[in-house]
Amino acid sequence: MLPRGVETSPELRERYSHDWTEDLRFLPDAVAFPEDPAHLQALLAYAYERDIPIIPAGGRTGLSGGMLPVQGGWVFSMEKLDRILAIDTRNLVAIAQAGVITQRLHEAVEAVGLFYPPDPSSRGSCTLGGNIAHNAGGVRAVKYGTTREYVLGLEAFLPDGRPLRTGSRTLKNSTGYNLTQFLVGSEGTLAVIHTAVFKLLPKPRHVRTLLLGFPEAESAVEAVVRIFHLGFLPAAIEFMEREAVLFGQAYLGQTLYPEADTLGGLLLVEIDGNHPDALEAEALQIEEAAFAAGAQKSWYAQTHEERELLWRLRRSLGVAVKTSGPYKEEDTVVPRTALPALLRKVKELGRRYGFRSVCYGHVGDGNLHVNILRENLPLQVWQEEVPRAVEELFQFVVAQGGALSGEHGIGWVQRRYMPLQFSADEIALMKALKRVFDPKGLLNPGKLFPD
Ligand code: LAC
Ligand code: ZN
Repeated sequence: MLPRGVETSPELRERYSHDWTEDLRFLPDAVAFPEDPAHLQALLAYAYERDIPIIPAGGRTGLSGGMLPVQGGWVFSMEKLDRILAIDTRNLVAIAQAGVITQRLHEAVEAVGLFYPPDPSSRGSCTLGGNIAHNAGGVRAVKYGTTREYVLGLEAFLPDGRPLRTGSRTLKNSTGYNLTQFLVGSEGTLAVIHTAVFKLLPKPRHVRTLLLGFPEAESAVEAVVRIFHLGFLPAAIEFMEREAVLFGQAYLGQTLYPEADTLGGLLLVEIDGNHPDALEAEALQIEEAAFAAGAQKSWYAQTHEERELLWRLRRSLGVAVKTSGPYKEEDTVVPRTALPALLRKVKELGRRYGFRSVCYGHVGDGNLHVNILRENLPLQVWQEEVPRAVEELFQFVVAQGGALSGEHGIGWVQRRYMPLQFSADEIALMKALKRVFDPKGLLNPGKLFPD
């Protein structure tokens, strides 16, 4: 008989067989629902002893297949570990369990005037644990950084159930190896995180949101560098090419500002702070810089509803593209100055290999999401030639000083490209470190490494 909290019904196994990555599905043998850390520890020890692969899972919104049970085994859903244990308003830290939905932490800290900046588009369904595992970014990373910057300490278990505590409740810590940051972004391959200490900030009191329209997608991303020259840091600089706006509008059944969908590319810029007059002045400077860089239209979100619409559209893009049919999503990141060339490269590859792409993303971070649409491509082209195009794309990205993934991680679908970024020695070193944590190779097997 299986231990308490381990389920094997066909419905549950099917529900936990996929995340948001393409249309990939791998059935787990069972799904474990630990209810508290002690229960998690017991279940891990049970599985590890029996050589059962252990796949930690959060909200299953990942885009690199990080939680896919590619070798079967048990998915460990952390959803019942969903307690916010403390919001310390004097030290500005929060302590929360891995299964807390990210938006719940946002709301809880904002209710007391505080701010947890990491803000992935999937914030209503992703979890803090998943965010830590992938070092999630989101739209505010340009000013506030990614999840990594907010994780001060972790409580986790090694896959055999031995406890591991890292970091502290302090902002500073120069004590020993930084295992906290080694676990952040490790994609559930080293330890199973159940609790984290997060740094909080005071919540900025005001925001201003501006949409800037450019005739060409390329001129929109070119303008990003100019905005940085103004001498202040916007909280978000998001890019949507025209196709992305059209997908988003079709998905929401709502249009954006009139004419916004006739332009080649849009920048959605948000600034935040405590002084509305200063923000007005900054918004004006951004607008002027954008027009000097070729913008033809600008819209100011006048009301809360207008701002919500802009963000709703931007946040819906991932799902909008996904529901339109098969696609591959690449999470390229390059130095900001290389964005125009990156965009040109994507479109050139599309012409050469015969695919259409939809690009959008966090261009303030140099992070462009490249969605390659299958549409009518023959299966052979989709399965054999498009991966070669992706390889060319990543070669270009690495040559620019960029990386394969800015925020979605490597997981299952990008692992074959790792040798484009790392030498054989570097990959061997990472594998050796993995073995220290997980000698039997049972924790989220088949991920990150090319073989
Ligand atoms: C976004 C997700 C796809 O930026 O990362 O919407
Ligand atoms: Zn993103």
